[in-house]
Amino acid sequence: MGAVKMIDIVTFGDPVLEKKAEAVAQYDKELLLFIDEMFTALEADKGIGLAAPQVGRSKRIFITELDDDKKRIFVNPEIVATSPDLVEYEEGCLSFPGLYFMVKRPASLRIQAFTEKGKSFTLEAEGLLARVILHEYDHLDGKLFIDRITPLKRERALLHFRKLLKM
Ligand code: NI
Repeated sequence: MGAVKMIDIVTFGDPVLEKKAEAVAQYDKELLLFIDEMFTALEADKGIGLAAPQVGRSKRIFITELDDDKKRIFVNPEIVATSPDLVEYEEGCLSFPGLYFMVKRPASLRIQAFTEKGKSFTLEAEGLLARVILHEYDHLDGKLFIDRITPLKRERALLHFRKLLKM
């Protein structure tokens, strides 16, 4: 069997992106298959992080895959702590193709989550991993990176984005 892309990434404008996602209740085979599909979609789009709402599923799951890091899966995550120091860095989002801007976020964090098999774990992250985690975690609360910039920048970004998509 060839690699078939089963799920597609939804872009800004789809209401699922602005909804608070629901907790995962069952750690079953369906969950494993879904997470596999998420990795396929992430890799097809050459991204470094993807949240379930971005593939139209309003569930509290996200994944990360950085060049210098392993594949990571976060189910029902909770950010336990963030550092008071903020860093500004350029971000993109697979749901806003072609759009990038500087976003300020905490430099480091501690997160508690479950694996795809329901095992609890805690992770401390900094640098790019911390940034990706915070960005993806936001998606689970229906919060997008355009909500993290000034209203004027947001307005300009959306104009630009609509032009790109010819909306
Ligand atoms: Ni995103």
